[in-house]
Amino acid sequence: MTNKFKYFIGNWKMFGNLASLNSIKQVHNFCLKFKKYTSKSKIIYCVPYTLIYFFSQKLKSKFISFGAQNCHFVETFGPYTGSVSASMLKKVGAKYVIIGHSENRFEGDTNKLIKQKIESALKQNLNVIFCVGETLKEKNKGKTFKVIKNQIKSSLSKKYNFNKIILAYEPVWAIGTGKIPKIQTVKKTIIFIKNQFQKILKVKKTPVVLYGGSVNNSNIRMFSSISEIDGFLIGGASQSSKKFIDIIKNYYK
Ligand code: 13P
Repeated sequence: MTNKFKYFIGNWKMFGNLASLNSIKQVHNFCLKFKKYTSKSKIIYCVPYTLIYFFSQKLKSKFISFGAQNCHFVETFGPYTGSVSASMLKKVGAKYVIIGHSENRFEGDTNKLIKQKIESALKQNLNVIFCVGETLKEKNKGKTFKVIKNQIKSSLSKKYNFNKIILAYEPVWAIGTGKIPKIQTVKKTIIFIKNQFQKILKVKKTPVVLYGGSVNNSNIRMFSSISEIDGFLIGGASQSSKKFIDIIKNYYK
């Protein structure tokens, strides 16, 4: 049920500029110093489109990879003002792309559109970080499992290369709020996602499933007690190298 590596993925959202490379360099230096942590971890920064090329050129790190936070459903080029495709991301050094984040679902990304985006990203050989999770309203109505099952069913297909897909459980109401679900609920939901993935897609492989939503350097201790969680998708706290490093350190404490 558990996977080999633990993932620490920073989602910077709409933050960062060229100077922010310093923050990632500090994390790189930490990785150099503390190999006992990094040999068991994968560290990925999903940064704004504007920073991917610069960061991936300036920091050649065997510990840290870069990714984007979304992509267009058309794989290569087209008349889509303001959009960026999976092939464009690939060419500037992105190895990962977040798809289906609730902040993008709010802006109109439907399960069907998310499926098209996942297909484009996979065709470009990008690793997909596919986000699922319920809103507060859905949680209060007891619909969490139903919502997640539907998200998996409508956006993934049996024909995909599952070695390139990571899932992230992000309860929408836990994002940026400082609120987190009860730890037993997280455990139950992560196990549910793993089981549903295998059942719906008829695969034996246990997927990598992350947790995201208000993860910080103190609550990480609680999450580390759940071996089924394969890592974390970290928003706010990933913008500070100190907080990000403390999350990794405290995870393994
Ligand atoms: P926060 O860690 O800021 O709650 O954000 C979580 C998130 O949305 C990661 O994708």
